[in-house]
Amino acid sequence: MRTRILTVLALVGGALGVALLRVGPSAAQVRPPTTVPGGPAEVEAGHQLYAIACTTCHGTEGEGVEDRGPSLVGVGAASADFYLSTGRMPLDRPRTQAERKRVAYSPVQIRQLVAFVASLGPGPVIPRVTGAAGDLAEGNRLYANNCAPCHSSAGAGGALGHAVYAPPLNRATPVQVAEAVRIGPGAMPVFGPDTLDDEQVASVVRYVSYLRKPDDRGGFGLGHLGPIPEGFVAWIVGLGAMLMAVRWIGTKD
Ligand code: HEC
Ligand code: HEC
Repeated sequence: MRTRILTVLALVGGALGVALLRVGPSAAQVRPPTTVPGGPAEVEAGHQLYAIACTTCHGTEGEGVEDRGPSLVGVGAASADFYLSTGRMPLDRPRTQAERKRVAYSPVQIRQLVAFVASLGPGPVIPRVTGAAGDLAEGNRLYANNCAPCHSSAGAGGALGHAVYAPPLNRATPVQVAEAVRIGPGAMPVFGPDTLDDEQVASVVRYVSYLRKPDDRGGFGLGHLGPIPEGFVAWIVGLGAMLMAVRWIGTKD
């Protein structure tokens, strides 16, 4: 009997472990990455990755190549992190709007490339935001005035003419939203601290995070299976284990 109870405890513990594991990574995504990495080893590793994939368009030392890619001197960690973490870089062909696509590098490699680009000259650092700070009503107002003209009031995006479009905002993480605001990628204007201070950016980020929730409820968010389906899996596994346990303990020796 005692071994059975121990086995049962182990089973239930295992199920709980599964549940925690499933919840862990989604919770971690909310945390912003560290600001500027940038030890010499990281910069050097980033330089090597850069030499393989970026020099043809941005030059051996980030000085830029005419008709291929702009100079990266002074674009800062925020720009490098935004372009790499949204998969925009490396670009396949020059002269097309850089689009969000499959991310080409691991988080570690992105940090190394970001460290290298940041080492080329001072520029905007990666903003620290989570989507939980800021004021929702203020964010709504700022979004309507500054972002809705291009991205639409629901954040669905829209055409801007000449084969340029403002993308939908339902895939950008809080950090990527704040980065976009500060660096103004492609045809998007830069919103510097004089236009929107950090507090106001936090409110805009919060509002954009709020906008994307209705999409998730409609089943649009297949790409990021969140804690809800994962929670169901944990429940079913856990309940199954407990039912089996109850039956097993219940059997007479
Ligand atoms: C085929 C050419 C090409 C390749 C390869 C390429 N880029 Fe780019 N890159 C561009 C062009 C063109 C732009 C400008 C596009 C835009 O702003 O939308 C750009 C923009 C950028 C920016 C934004 C600059 C700014 O003004 O804020 C960064 C950062 C960047 N690239 C980093 C990289 C890194 C790192 C790599 C290698 C992993 C890379 N790129 C590979 C062509 C390229
Ligand atoms: C003049 C039009 C315009 C305005 C105003 C504008 N954007 Fe953009 N935005 C763009 C364009 C164009 C892009 C795509 C840039 C590229 O990739 O080349 C973009 C890209 C983005 C992205 C990246 C989306 C992704 O998934 O990759 C975010 C996030 C974003 N904008 C947020 C904002 C916010 C927040 C505001 C208001 C503070 C704003 N934008 C105002 C035109 C605009």
